[in-house]
Amino acid sequence: MTSPHIAGKEPIAVPVKPGQSYWWCACGQSKKQPFCDGSHKGSSFTPIEFKSESDRTLYFCACKHTKHSPLCDGTHKTL
Ligand code: FES
Repeated sequence: MTSPHIAGKEPIAVPVKPGQSYWWCACGQSKKQPFCDGSHKGSSFTPIEFKSESDRTLYFCACKHTKHSPLCDGTHKTL
């Protein structure tokens, strides 16, 4: 498996709503970071669904190397 593209080196804050699905871009090629815009087609990557359970702001991974996808785990600091 190839490495995902690094879309950014800082997490992206997103206010999320309970019960709503969010499709996190795993390939790093989306122009609508941190979410999928279909650019992964033809690659080995697929987006990852995240469902929020509450109304809050979350920090989604933009470097695509987190071990805690789709959320930031600080890995961007090592890239
Ligand atoms: Fe990256 Fe869909 S555009 S996973």
